[in-house]
Amino acid sequence: MLGRVNHIAIAVPDLAAATSTYRDTLGARVSQAQALPEHGVTVVFVELPNAKVELLEPLGADSPIAAFLEKNPSGGMHHICYEVDDIIAVRDQLKAAGARVLGDGNPKTGAHGKPVLFLHPKDFNGTLVELEQV
Ligand code: CO
Repeated sequence: MLGRVNHIAIAVPDLAAATSTYRDTLGARVSQAQALPEHGVTVVFVELPNAKVELLEPLGADSPIAAFLEKNPSGGMHHICYEVDDIIAVRDQLKAAGARVLGDGNPKTGAHGKPVLFLHPKDFNGTLVELEQV
């Protein structure tokens, strides 16, 4: 069902500082910051040979990562994203198995212009899981 790890997302309180850490201290290739109002975040992609790291900073008053940063003020790992071939088929299979899909259950367009869904962390060992159809 699962394909490659597409990205690991890290919520950060200061996107410019986190970008500098990855670019200047760790020597990684990083993207320009991209505002995603639909998702309530501004994101920077760290491009690694086998996957991406997404640095997420809250955008707007209702950001879904605001509460996470209140609990983790210096930032922290927020979710892991796995690639799938058919997001609707995977969603229906997981729902039938009792897993909870967040939101209205319908895929949204993610940061890479592809359909994404999020799965409840309580059903996946305390980790928020994102699925991306590639
Ligand atoms: Co993500």
